[in-house]
Amino acid sequence: MPPLSTPTPGVRQTEFRFRCIACGDVSDSASQNFRCPHCGDLLEITYPHWKESGHTTQELKSTWGQRRLSHSTIDLSGVWRFRELLPALERDDQAITLREGNTPLYELPQCARITGVPRLFAKHQGLNPTGSFKDAGMTVAATFARLAGFRWVACASTGNTSASMAAYAARGGMRSLVLVPEGKISWSKLSQALDYGAVTCQLRTDFDGCLRLLQELVLRAPVYQLNSINPFRLEGQKTLAFELLEQLDWQPPDHIIVPGGNLGNSSAIGKALLEMHALGLISRLPKLSVIQAEGANALVRTLREAAGKRLISVQAETRATAIRIGNPASWKKAAHVLEATGGACEQVTEVEIAQAKAEIGAEGIGCEPASAVTLAGLKKLVKQGFVKAEESVVLVLTGNLLKDPDYTMEFHRGDLFKGTAGENASAGLNPLRRPPIALDATLDAVMRTLEQAEK
Ligand code: F0G
Repeated sequence: MPPLSTPTPGVRQTEFRFRCIACGDVSDSASQNFRCPHCGDLLEITYPHWKESGHTTQELKSTWGQRRLSHSTIDLSGVWRFRELLPALERDDQAITLREGNTPLYELPQCARITGVPRLFAKHQGLNPTGSFKDAGMTVAATFARLAGFRWVACASTGNTSASMAAYAARGGMRSLVLVPEGKISWSKLSQALDYGAVTCQLRTDFDGCLRLLQELVLRAPVYQLNSINPFRLEGQKTLAFELLEQLDWQPPDHIIVPGGNLGNSSAIGKALLEMHALGLISRLPKLSVIQAEGANALVRTLREAAGKRLISVQAETRATAIRIGNPASWKKAAHVLEATGGACEQVTEVEIAQAKAEIGAEGIGCEPASAVTLAGLKKLVKQGFVKAEESVVLVLTGNLLKDPDYTMEFHRGDLFKGTAGENASAGLNPLRRPPIALDATLDAVMRTLEQAEK
């Protein structure tokens, strides 16, 4: 058993409260649906004592840097490494961790040429333990579920949340209940939940229907909900931004671009940017932009048609099933951080998503379709003049390529758009396709294929 964390003199952990994002009511505790008891809106976690805690920015940066050399369990987590800006634990060994975070920041030279933005990077959250960014939030929320004494945790999911929750529940000795839309999540994600031991229900509805049902369930049964409505999830997901800034030597990029589904992740990253700015860890705010699939564009429409004042829900449809969400729970939080950072909100077509995914794949890193909306969206933002060639841009790749192999195989075989509205437009993607080639097992046949490919 490795030793537990090295104590850090002078850096105290935080106390936190729940605050309603609409009426501002502040409370020590939250009900099981994580809604404000007065107005019913979402809660966020705040830290009223930060200012008195005596952290200097230099102290924080050097403490976090030193922990990268530590072998203690909690310091090996790329989330808990930043624990001064997270809800405090009484003891380090309370954290349920799978060594999440610590994800790479890659340069994207080929995509940089395609977009005309030389300083283009990808923060690859798909390299987390269960293959998506959800792990960063789950380590914190699952930990607090266990501390609150729950035996059962539950979520509605398009697949990644359920995979992550099931893993962390298993590690933490809790049972997990998964509600997913039948036939609308990838086999890889579903199989993860099964292997990690979740009770997995495929409901005859969409994600929004699953989430509605979960919200009722948590009021009736002693289960702890681990969707991103749960503000502990967003605290963990904040650390993506801390780690990114650390990787950039605390020089903020001009733009950060994220996919938008239920809008928890954009809200979390935005919260982190605002907190880092308020604490003086960064001197200016990057613009945080959200990209949605055209068929699941609730936030785009909400901002364009209702000036961000009320949610315009949509009947969601997209092959990027991770973001097939029409009624995003955290739309108000996301609208707030977009406004506060001066970011944009755009939508991209199915063909644009497929093209961007293949281009990211051709860089040798790959991602799942929902993550590729970021590159597709960047192309649009460059065209509009919102992103300029001399600016630096970070794309947040949220999920691993292996999360949705059916999509990738259909793309390369040329079947992805058969019989759909995108069929004609997708002809332009043929140079990106690399279908598998069935051959006789002869040297001649392989040599001919090699020569053909060289042409
Ligand atoms: N990218 C991937 C790979 C996702 O799995 C999700 C959400 C998103 C982007 C969007 O993030 O919801 O925070 O705006 N997946 C959820 C799930 C909803 O159940 O796995 P968001």
